[in-house]
Amino acid sequence: MNTFEFNKIAAAVLAGVLIIMVINEIATLAIHPTYPEEPAYAIDTGAVASSEVASNDEVAGPSLGVLLASADVAKGEKIFKKCGACHTVEEGGPNKIGPNLHGILNRDKGTHSGFSYSGALIEKGGAWGYEDLDLFLTKPSTYIKGTKMSFAGVKKPEQRADLIAYLRTLGKSDVPLPPAE
Ligand code: HEC
Repeated sequence: MNTFEFNKIAAAVLAGVLIIMVINEIATLAIHPTYPEEPAYAIDTGAVASSEVASNDEVAGPSLGVLLASADVAKGEKIFKKCGACHTVEEGGPNKIGPNLHGILNRDKGTHSGFSYSGALIEKGGAWGYEDLDLFLTKPSTYIKGTKMSFAGVKKPEQRADLIAYLRTLGKSDVPLPPAE
């Protein structure tokens, strides 16, 4: 084989490689086209938007059980400073403007000795379960119309969970938490 012939073969091989590379590039583009992130048109699947499902004012968040599972007792203790003006928490602590709250979880409503409760709170009846505390602390005057606890409430569900987790440490750590689902 002379040089001329060798050059011809080499050129053909090179051209072949180039063609394969080009075809490969085109194939890659054809197989993996880039799509726009948003669909160009929305398909009505009949699904209801979450905002329509939730009540008018608030979007339903995680359940109390879920929030309590990751609640922060230390944060709850800090938030309790708002309550400390009216409530003591130590065992046998005095009543102030509000009753002592030691062991409040699962304690029957309005039963702490030596405190004069409103008729509204006594009439509410039952024990202070997790849900009761959560509802009461959201807005006391809504949960118990006529309560004499003049406190606006704790708006953020996470903060209420921290607070309730803290109340749970006051002698009632063994009360099983609501399911976290
Ligand atoms: C301005 C004073 C005041 C503040 C602040 C306050 N409370 Fe009260 N709390 C009261 C009074 C008064 C009552 C009794 C209500 C009644 O008899 O209707 C009460 C009752 C309660 C009860 C029911 C007790 C029982 O024995 O049935 C709980 C639970 C409670 N408070 C928790 C809290 C928590 C938690 C906070 C803070 C987020 C808080 N309170 C903030 C005054 C207060």
